[in-house]
Amino acid sequence: MKISYQEDTKVFRLDAAGMTYAMSVTDEEGFLSHLYFGAGLGDGDIRYLTRTQEMPWLASRNDRDRGSFLDAQPQECPGNGLGDFRSSAVTIIDSKGQRGIQPLVTGHRIYDGKERLEGLPHTWCRDKSEAMTLEITLKDPSVGAELILCYTIFDGLRAVVRSARIRNCGEQAFTLTKLCSCSLDFDYTGQRLLTLNGSWGREKRKQILPVGIGTQSVSSLRGISSHQAHPFLGLLSEGADQEQGEVIGCNLVYSGNFLAQVERSQFDVLRMQMGIHPEGFAWTLAPGESFQAPEAVLVWSDEGLGGMTRTLHNLYRNHLMRSPWLHRERPVLINNWEATFFDFDLEKLLAIAKRAAQSGVELLVMDDGWFGKRNDDNSSLGDWTVNEEKLPGGVKRLSEELGRIGMKLGIWFEPEMISPDSDLYRAHPDWAFSYDGRRPCRSRNQYVLDLSRKEVRDAIFDQITAVLDSADVAYVKWDMNRALTDVGSHAEGAEAGSLFHRFMLGTYELQERLITRYPDLLLENCSSGGGRYDAGTLFYSPQVWTSDDTDAIERLTIQEGTSMLYPLSSMGAHISVSPSQCVGRLVPMTTRGHVALAGTFGYELDINHLPEADAAMIPGQVALYHRFGELMREGDYYRIASYQDNHLFDCYEVVSGDKTEALLTWVQVLCEPNRRSKRIRVPGLDPDRSYRIEIADPAVQDDRWDGNALRSEEIECMQSFLNRDISGRTLAHAGILMPKLRGDFRSVLIRIAAV
Ligand code: GLA
Repeated sequence: MKISYQEDTKVFRLDAAGMTYAMSVTDEEGFLSHLYFGAGLGDGDIRYLTRTQEMPWLASRNDRDRGSFLDAQPQECPGNGLGDFRSSAVTIIDSKGQRGIQPLVTGHRIYDGKERLEGLPHTWCRDKSEAMTLEITLKDPSVGAELILCYTIFDGLRAVVRSARIRNCGEQAFTLTKLCSCSLDFDYTGQRLLTLNGSWGREKRKQILPVGIGTQSVSSLRGISSHQAHPFLGLLSEGADQEQGEVIGCNLVYSGNFLAQVERSQFDVLRMQMGIHPEGFAWTLAPGESFQAPEAVLVWSDEGLGGMTRTLHNLYRNHLMRSPWLHRERPVLINNWEATFFDFDLEKLLAIAKRAAQSGVELLVMDDGWFGKRNDDNSSLGDWTVNEEKLPGGVKRLSEELGRIGMKLGIWFEPEMISPDSDLYRAHPDWAFSYDGRRPCRSRNQYVLDLSRKEVRDAIFDQITAVLDSADVAYVKWDMNRALTDVGSHAEGAEAGSLFHRFMLGTYELQERLITRYPDLLLENCSSGGGRYDAGTLFYSPQVWTSDDTDAIERLTIQEGTSMLYPLSSMGAHISVSPSQCVGRLVPMTTRGHVALAGTFGYELDINHLPEADAAMIPGQVALYHRFGELMREGDYYRIASYQDNHLFDCYEVVSGDKTEALLTWVQVLCEPNRRSKRIRVPGLDPDRSYRIEIADPAVQDDRWDGNALRSEEIECMQSFLNRDISGRTLAHAGILMPKLRGDFRSVLIRIAAV
């Protein structure tokens, strides 16, 4: 790992783990040019890559050329209104109402380690030796703006974490209207664009499209990163696929409005940008004030998408997520939402908990409906006091009763919201966002709290802590169930264009206060499922609810998209009933269990109303989770086949860091007639070791027929690879032969262990 600046060539270079990122400063004026991002380069001068020897020459040599120069030059910090007609990285309105800005390099600083970003989620290092940072200072004296572009590399990781900060160093205020977290220009060479898109209940589906001339973007203006789009862009070089070829990924460490785009210019230069969405954004900076844009993570891989995924997982597990729970085995939980919805009381909860405890479940999560007078979604958000009619003795009694049966308690909150029918709203109607003279839009019958205001945050925090202090609460589910509309504040002097971001900062601040006050609390974020499952929330909570769709087959696609970026250890995955409440599909209990093993494992059902055969499988499933939990949490993830792509089957593998053990999950979604076995290559193992393969889940081998029990002829076919010693090299290239299984929604868990 090394960051260098060459005085004579004016080239900045960041080198880590066989990756190079390079920039240069143009001679006379000091534009910051992008030179290169990709495989590690050899030593020697690379300034020849700047293209300043080509027409149009440097801008300052001839004012007439400036426009064409800027419009063609690969840049790192394109300004606005002065000749680059592509999308700007920074835009402002100055005190005279003028918009021109072009920051030019004035200095830089290189140091070991990495600094924190106040108030925002950010990557970090434990020790200064783990990371190096380059800060480049750029100025535009005409506006009085100073920009600091920050670049951090981490030891052993093919990633560059970027961010940008702007300071008013002049004498007049100006208003910032856009600041990208990252902007870079590089050659278009036929890359395809990968994005993750979806909707409620079907989050993070892959979409891969060619990059055409013009601009392609994904964005959110919902105040959350959203179910619909995700702050991520992947660029796949020609020929790149799951495990081969070059891929560049860019992921924003932020949970609010964002814009992520690529723009292919007339000269086939690709500009990739990501940051807070500029639409409606305005942040006034008085002299001396600064604005910090969130971080964006850039990853380069020459092992296809899989390499990008493993770099992101390692970066997030080691340099973004912080919880003491991160590397710990999480309690197996049971959540009462899909079991009871709002219709529960102490007795019902305890009945669920008792049976669950007998099966090895360790934590009961009491979901929505325990507070105020909330028996449906019409009331009480904001009134975080326990409903004693449902829970006599309060949360304290519930936690004590659970303690007696060896179970811990978790509680659901939705701290950012307020019901019009709540004591809080009646006392403080001005604490909800709304525009003067307009009735705010209700979504799920609720309004959004103006968390830009400290007094609002304090009031909510005090209510939550009163509940948490009253009992032994091990876990909190922090939910957020609507998009933001009517974002108008009734606070004195509130700047309209700053509110979406201030709301996000307020939410982050509340979560920070919560985990600081309860350092051992296991926090799970949620937003109607995965509406805010992003790198930003991972800074606060080690796990996030992935989707409200808990059907195991739907989950294959949702979990594929989610785990493409985020560690399995963060992915909330629970077993729910069959037929699924979401899609009505009948899926065997073992298959549901195998799919949920890929995340933080738990149940989302009333165990007392399960078919006996399903309930009887729970202890075995819990045992599987304990057996493979650490491997799933810490291992390297390989996607082998995608049901979203092939519409028939799904397959993925997790390999331990020392390559002594792997777990392969095979799900045959649909059975086809007259098929032979499928050859499945098993990557990631030590090529020079021998491995023994066995079926990991005894439940699929016994007689209990839940639609997924292996038939004797199926086991017979698997003898081609079961209990034999096969080398890692052979497994990687020739693979194993997975027999066709009879029936739909079948699954097999395969353990591969070094001999
Ligand atoms: C959201 C969550 C669910 C559940 C409900 C409760 O939809 O995603 O898991 O907590 O809210 O209202």
